[in-house]
Amino acid sequence: MRHFLTFKDFTKEEILEIIDIGLEIKQNLKKGIYKKELDMQTLGMIFEKSSTRTRVSFETGMFQLGGHALFLSNRDIHLGRGEPVKDTARVISSMCDMVMIRTFEHTMIEEFAAYSSVPVINGLTDSYHPVQLLADYMTLVEHKCADNIIAAYVGDGNNMTHSWMMLAAKLGFELRIATPKGYEVDAKILAQALEIAKESGAVITTTNDPKVAVNGATVVTTDTWTSMGQEEQKQERIKIFQGFMVDDALMSHAKDDAKFLHCLPAYRGLEVSEEIFEKHSKIVFDEAENRLHAQKGLMVWLTKQ
Ligand code: CP
Ligand code: NVA
Repeated sequence: MRHFLTFKDFTKEEILEIIDIGLEIKQNLKKGIYKKELDMQTLGMIFEKSSTRTRVSFETGMFQLGGHALFLSNRDIHLGRGEPVKDTARVISSMCDMVMIRTFEHTMIEEFAAYSSVPVINGLTDSYHPVQLLADYMTLVEHKCADNIIAAYVGDGNNMTHSWMMLAAKLGFELRIATPKGYEVDAKILAQALEIAKESGAVITTTNDPKVAVNGATVVTTDTWTSMGQEEQKQERIKIFQGFMVDDALMSHAKDDAKFLHCLPAYRGLEVSEEIFEKHSKIVFDEAENRLHAQKGLMVWLTKQ
């Protein structure tokens, strides 16, 4: 049995296999072919934070695969009233075939996985958002720009940045990260990514200058400056992050045909300008749709382990 908590525990071949399964499922779906590969299976989905894409994609994906998904908000289940994580894990995993969790501390999902008798999927923690990166990479494959990637991440050193780092480290592509001073990525996760990168040949660099990161990039990406759980810091962050908006001026330093990705939700006038967002909206909404297909690939793959 395998859990999907971060890319750290996966090989390059496994990551590419999951994406290939997702792409095949997507192609079949577009032809109206549904294979009930998860017939009679149930996915428990624990949400301790808000979600649009993650909830809709997992729930719809499970239905299309012949299974069922349960939306479990911590406002409604006893986890939110203090029932221990390890008890919740043993109960839910005794009834469900897989569990997806969106939570705060990454250690919560690790504890849940340690006590779960079924695969656990990370649907976002404060540290990582790997299912989003499955969709992001799938989108680059589809748009035929997954070779010789030079990716630039501009903004907050957060869960998205950490997952970009781990994916780059595993797949062996170049990633430049530009954050304001004081909002850098987690030093321990960076050290782990750099260690993995030694084997894959990935080049991962950090800077406080967005232009340095974007110069010659083939893919430029960003994320909200204020992640879920940081709402009270929003005004302070808006001041500190000035100069980190992905706009025409910054994109002009990237390759002419550079792609722009955003995990969404996007805040125009903050991390991205309205012009850049709308110019690249086709690929951004393909990226959002690919959450459905990539995660179906992941769930099918996990049930085969
Ligand atoms: N990108 C993403 O995970 O979106 P949601 O927060 O809407 O699930
Ligand atoms: N970094 C963001 C990602 C949202 C999908 C957050 O954690 O809120």
